[in-house]
Amino acid sequence: MPEAHMPEHVAIVMDGNGRWAEQRRRSRSWGHQAGLKALRRTARHGTEIGIRILTVFAFSSENWNRPALEVSRLMDLFMSALEKEVKGLHENGVKVRFIGDLSGFKPELRERMLAAQELTAANTRSQLNVAANYGGRWDIVNAARTMAEQARDGQLDPASIDEGLFGSRLALADTPDPDLFIRTGGEMRISNFLLWQCAYTEFYFSDVLWPDFGKDELDRAIAAYQQRERRFGKTGKQVRDHAHA
Ligand code: IPE
Ligand code: IPE
Ligand code: MG
Repeated sequence: MPEAHMPEHVAIVMDGNGRWAEQRRRSRSWGHQAGLKALRRTARHGTEIGIRILTVFAFSSENWNRPALEVSRLMDLFMSALEKEVKGLHENGVKVRFIGDLSGFKPELRERMLAAQELTAANTRSQLNVAANYGGRWDIVNAARTMAEQARDGQLDPASIDEGLFGSRLALADTPDPDLFIRTGGEMRISNFLLWQCAYTEFYFSDVLWPDFGKDELDRAIAAYQQRERRFGKTGKQVRDHAHA
């Protein structure tokens, strides 16, 4: 695949772990464990083929509403994943970041997340953003609140608030918007993922359940992306003339 057509930033809603496990008459938590393996495969392949930024939805602000046992098993899985995966990611040159309201997690988990961020902060080969206790509306409200506080304190002129400034207060402030959004598991919805950031993102939906996702599926999604014409409000002719100019 030509490098030039590679999406720079891919966002993934890793959905379908529960159904994958239920089909096998196993617990939903077992499905989440298989989901972690799929993430490992996918992230590794993504780095190899030159995707610079991968942002994955691991736990939404609404996922707390699941049965307590599933939530607590997921927290255990996050704890052990942080222990086992971070070293390998670091050796591979991956910068890890967490986006979301980390104050919702217990201190031990939060500390591991912050430690992983610190350890990998200087890595430049690729970036893995893990959205945990993340909601697109939370992100937008959070940005609005911090700007309102600064305006109240006289540090920000409300007239200076534009899209650029607003975007700079969001969780992925220093990151280009996703080029490609992938959702597995057959549902065609955004489920409160990157609401602001996906304004011009290309969407790709797959029926494959997340634990079955991997190299070939990622290649398929990228191939579909490469067939799209991104117009950003312009006409197709404008876009094609510019591309050939
Ligand atoms: C996504 O898989 C993982 C998380 C939300 C943590 P699901 O657990 O939503 O799987 P399904 O949609 O029930 O199959
Ligand atoms: C979205 O999946 C969140 C994650 C993948 C972490 P959900 O399974 O929670 O989404 P809904 O509830 O089907 O919309
Ligand atoms: Mg789901």
